[in-house]
Amino acid sequence: MATAGTALFASTGIYLHTTLHGKLRIWRRELDQVGLKGDERLLDLGCGRGAVLIEAARRLPTGHAVGVDLWSGKDQSGNRPEVTLANAAAAGVADRVEVQTADMTALPFADGSFDVVTSALAIHNIPSTEARYRAVDEAMRVLRPGGQLIVADFWPMARKYAAHLGQGTLRGLGPGYWYGGPWLGVTLLHAVKGR
Ligand SMILES: C[S@@+](CC[C@H](N)C(=O)[O-])C[C@H]1O[C@@H](n2cnc3c(N)ncnc32)[C@H](O)[C@@H]1O
Repeated sequence: MATAGTALFASTGIYLHTTLHGKLRIWRRELDQVGLKGDERLLDLGCGRGAVLIEAARRLPTGHAVGVDLWSGKDQSGNRPEVTLANAAAAGVADRVEVQTADMTALPFADGSFDVVTSALAIHNIPSTEARYRAVDEAMRVLRPGGQLIVADFWPMARKYAAHLGQGTLRGLGPGYWYGGPWLGVTLLHAVKGR
């Protein structure tokens, strides 16, 4: 009983560390590695309250960061476009952040209209595998040739997205992105759209 209590306590601590600090630290590092010039157009799928969207916008002083979401309160608490925009304003990046209510399986954007597409722990929230693949296909469709897709998701899903695309590198993001323990670790898929 005491062992189960200790395990639950440790798992909760790891979860809180990931949501409050770990995931942000990891996304800062990953966004720094994208090689952004600062004038790109970036799309964040399932942006929620804007953790990744806002970090991306900080790196786009003359660019534009668009977040799309269906604002599910089940997937993220306090999930509303006004909250995301207020967070962007508090971070001083409201001038380059836009949010749209849209389903990532049917994006309202033209082919090739973004330089980078990101998504953090969002695609797995789509209920069916087919629809998750549609979201990945939509992400590739709206990327320009040579554009980068960067998706963080649980390992089994990230592996399937890469297999579906037939390309991309996969890399575990380590304990900083564990949702309670290694059994819920997050993997990064990085793919580049062919020219
Ligand atoms: C776990 S939250 C992650 C939010 C944010 N990316 C982060 O890392 O903090 C998943 C998000 O995906 C959104 N979502 C789920 N299905 C979606 C869909 N089909 N299209 C757009 N957004 C969706 C949810 O509303 C939620 O905001």
